[in-house]
Amino acid sequence: RAVLAAQVEAARAADPGFTPSAERGRTLFTGSPGGGKPDSPSCTSCHGDDPRQGGHSRAGKPIAPLAPSVVPARLTDAADVAKWLRRNCAEVLGRDCTAAEKADLVAFLISQ
Ligand code: HEM
Repeated sequence: RAVLAAQVEAARAADPGFTPSAERGRTLFTGSPGGGKPDSPSCTSCHGDDPRQGGHSRAGKPIAPLAPSVVPARLTDAADVAKWLRRNCAEVLGRDCTAAEKADLVAFLISQ
């Protein structure tokens, strides 16, 4: 997918040997890395443990599944993905995700 290729290219600018890992992406997605807001310690706080199922915003608004196998439009719009990763990494980690982290997260999510 174009969105993954762009994230990998960005990560390779910093580390030419970088290879994306869906497993690292899963670990970051389901973990609680710290540094973010107390009510959103993990991606799963809003998206739930299984990307094939939906989640809900902190206000309780439903969020459709992130898995492209369930919602084919997911991870197809690079600007949308960039916008939400910027916002959501700030929520969960209190900083931007690195290019490598973003590539791993996208590799995980598109595999779902
Ligand atoms: C959308 C990933 C944490 C709420 C998205 C999208 C991605 C994503 C990739 C856009 C998907 C697309 O349309 O292509 C992540 C990751 C997270 C994370 C990797 C952890 C670092 C959170 C948290 C919240 C949240 C903690 C709530 C505070 C939302 C909402 C949207 C969204 C409201 C937009 C609505 C929608 O697309 O259905 N997220 N997210 N996310 N995320 Fe997250």
